[in-house]
Amino acid sequence: MAFSLRVGVVSFILPARISVCRSEVPPQWGCWRLGPRLASLASGVPKGARMADIGTDHALLPEVLARAGWVERALGIDRAEDALRAARERLDGVPWPGVRVELWLGDGLGLLRAEMVDCAVMAGFGGRKMVELLERHPPEQLGITRLVLQPTAGLPALRRYLSRRGWQIVSEQIVCEGRRGFITSIMIWDGRLRELTSLEALIGRVSVDEPLLFAWMHVQLQHLLRQGDRARALRAEVEKWLAHHPLTV
Ligand SMILES: C[S@@+](CC[C@H](N)C(=O)[O-])C[C@H]1O[C@@H](n2cnc3c(N)ncnc32)[C@H](O)[C@@H]1O
Repeated sequence: MAFSLRVGVVSFILPARISVCRSEVPPQWGCWRLGPRLASLASGVPKGARMADIGTDHALLPEVLARAGWVERALGIDRAEDALRAARERLDGVPWPGVRVELWLGDGLGLLRAEMVDCAVMAGFGGRKMVELLERHPPEQLGITRLVLQPTAGLPALRRYLSRRGWQIVSEQIVCEGRRGFITSIMIWDGRLRELTSLEALIGRVSVDEPLLFAWMHVQLQHLLRQGDRARALRAEVEKWLAHHPLTV
């Protein structure tokens, strides 16, 4: 089976045998014209949340959550002035009832104070950077109890980091858009420290019934193959996993 791989990144090219090229978008987000990737982030934000989108860029996510009346607070934070200016210009001209999107120029979670928000979203940049931002400003100390994460790379290390610090992975979803897959990870704070095995950190809480998990595990296998001997043990576990979970679609 031929795979074109983007090694070490969360997005990957699906094998030709998988016909799913665009995940379904729940109607409540489809009507706002969100694509599958952003819709899976929106679905991770509970109704009535006070949310902050860290690294918001275009601010499409807080915009839709606010316009849909889904959240009580919609905060978009980015360190790029240009991106915020463009988002502000777009949002200023749109009248809608309910909460307005607040756009803040800032670095990570640095401007947040206790109890301002209860849910933080981070998407579109690497897991290592996410760890850095979370380490500098631990979200649980700000009253944040839910994280919705979609890193472009380094998801296993991010899962491990957060599990060790009292975050529980409650659900994960793979969505694909234009033949690229993305994993959205939802974590809640319960204060229980967990040590994930290497295999657990690779698989997370993606359902084994998810056919795209097979493609994700193949990407990981290729990544491990490039790491040579030091990855031998984990590679054997992934090979065993793949042998027991054949591609069914
Ligand atoms: C590729 S965009 C992702 C936009 C959006 N979250 C999405 O998933 O479509 C990444 C954004 O993260 C912002 N960013 C990177 N590091 C940041 C930091 N330390 N604090 C705030 N924003 C940051 C960048 O300026 C950029 O606008």
